[in-house]
Amino acid sequence: TSRHQDEMKRAVAQAALDEIRAQLDRQTVLGVGSGSTVNHFIDLLGDYRHYFDGAVASSEASAERLRRNGITVLDLNSVGPLPLYIDGADEIDDDFCMIKGGGAALTREKIVAACSEHFICIADQTKRVPQLGTFPLPIEVIPMARSHVARQTVLLGFDPVYREGVITDNGNQILDLHSLMIEDPGAMETRLNDITGLVTNGIFAHRGADTLLLGTELGVERHVR
Ligand code: A5P
Repeated sequence: TSRHQDEMKRAVAQAALDEIRAQLDRQTVLGVGSGSTVNHFIDLLGDYRHYFDGAVASSEASAERLRRNGITVLDLNSVGPLPLYIDGADEIDDDFCMIKGGGAALTREKIVAACSEHFICIADQTKRVPQLGTFPLPIEVIPMARSHVARQTVLLGFDPVYREGVITDNGNQILDLHSLMIEDPGAMETRLNDITGLVTNGIFAHRGADTLLLGTELGVERHVR
């Protein structure tokens, strides 16, 4: 990450805070994602910790950072549907479909996103793409099924690479699927979900973003689907 890119990440994090500030009240529980862009958001959110109830985190790393900022971390099972989910992306297309999971947090990200009424994606302009697939697509797999799942993804045209040394928050492993541009993200999300032993794939098409705050050289662009 260049310094320049980091400034764009910080700017979209600030824009996300500006966007949601008026909606915060003592009952609000926020869904908070993972990654370096979200880290900026969490650090800015710390100043507002007394204005809302708490947050549900999509990773242990984010949970710890929230707590360090004095924000209460809640269990998803103890709260109802969340009004807002704020998270980054590795790629986002014109339909606001995304590839996520570069940080290996895709499963919990997809769960929290599924429980949220509104998904605000915060990303710098390098994430915006005409078609998904240049960024290798992460999938989380049950360890004993890794080779089986890898073979199945080869049949779909992917080139799977085991992300060695990485264990997810759920105790599973990650394969990164290279070498295939994704023509129909929704259909591919469904096909991958059919593979036994595959826990989650990093395509967020069925539940894409609703609002995109995109950091550019000229400032933050706001796009609504
Ligand atoms: C985490 O698993 C990913 O889905 C992140 O949302 C993604 O990697 C974005 O990360 P940065 O904000 O660090 O670019």
